[in-house]
Amino acid sequence: MPTNAPADALEDFHDDGDTAEDFRKAVLNGLSQPQKRLPSKFFYDAKGSALFDRICTLEEYYPTRTETALLESCGKEIAVLAGPNANLIEFGSGSSVKTRILLDALDRLTAYVPIDISRDHLLAAAKTLAQDYPEVAVTPVCADFVQPLDLPKLAGTGVNLGFFPGSTIGNFRPADAAAFLKNAARAVGHGGAMVIGVDLVKDPATLHAAYNDASDVTAAFNLNLLERINRELDADFGLDGFAHYAPYNPARGCIEMHLVSRRAQQVRIAGKTFDFAIGETIHTEDSHKYTIEGFHELARRGGWTPREVWCDADSLFSVHFLDVA
Ligand code: TRP
Repeated sequence: MPTNAPADALEDFHDDGDTAEDFRKAVLNGLSQPQKRLPSKFFYDAKGSALFDRICTLEEYYPTRTETALLESCGKEIAVLAGPNANLIEFGSGSSVKTRILLDALDRLTAYVPIDISRDHLLAAAKTLAQDYPEVAVTPVCADFVQPLDLPKLAGTGVNLGFFPGSTIGNFRPADAAAFLKNAARAVGHGGAMVIGVDLVKDPATLHAAYNDASDVTAAFNLNLLERINRELDADFGLDGFAHYAPYNPARGCIEMHLVSRRAQQVRIAGKTFDFAIGETIHTEDSHKYTIEGFHELARRGGWTPREVWCDADSLFSVHFLDVA
């Protein structure tokens, strides 16, 4: 049920985020499958969001700095393609760091709608942004952007411009990615556009290092999911009983992230018992990599027409400008 609560400096706040009961159901259901899995959206509690911000600063994790530099260098071109008085709608806004580059580059941006699953993180980031950009109407929406979106009324007379950075599109299976793109096209509507960051297929060693950093921040991020379940669902995962495992599968063009049970063990969660064999994994996330052409094909399937693409000199990462088809 969406509820609206007033919040400092913000236009409005739309809350359709997950409840404790949604979390409990998703965990019990995911761990009851033959291949145990947990939905990756639950990574982002306060601690997970903070760990994710640290991942983005890691030497091995090239996507954030590469995409940031790309957005800085193509910001003016994006502004020309988008035109004046746009409404910016960001899917999975997190700390809204990259957003500032677009807010600075776009011509008289009217409204900004950050959509995120992580309620407190979203509100904190949105408030700071609203204070720093008093001329922009900021309306945060706490929601899972995979679901059909009920966007607030947008005041800008220009284009509705989606923004989906961070290669989050890669965290969907390709079929779900196409479904997300269709949903996003519907949300921005006829005449809309989108700026989307997509990580590229490259040598496996670079990819492997990005998800297996030497300081184990990504491991801590992955394991925090179990900690969160312990905390919020009265569970007794022993964190030393599970190991971070994130190999790159070149045939799938995909990093697969798992938590591997180090031994045969039982875990109690919300009054239920789950058995883990030694070596059994919980699949926590996929991160698909695309070629430029491969992504163009996906975009077309998802109801968009590729308009422009920028990529760094080493072909690590791409930023695409798409029009609603
Ligand atoms: N979408 C980004 C990626 O796949 C960021 C990300 C999501 C991520 N989950 C992650 C990065 C887990 C590291 C670990 O790279």
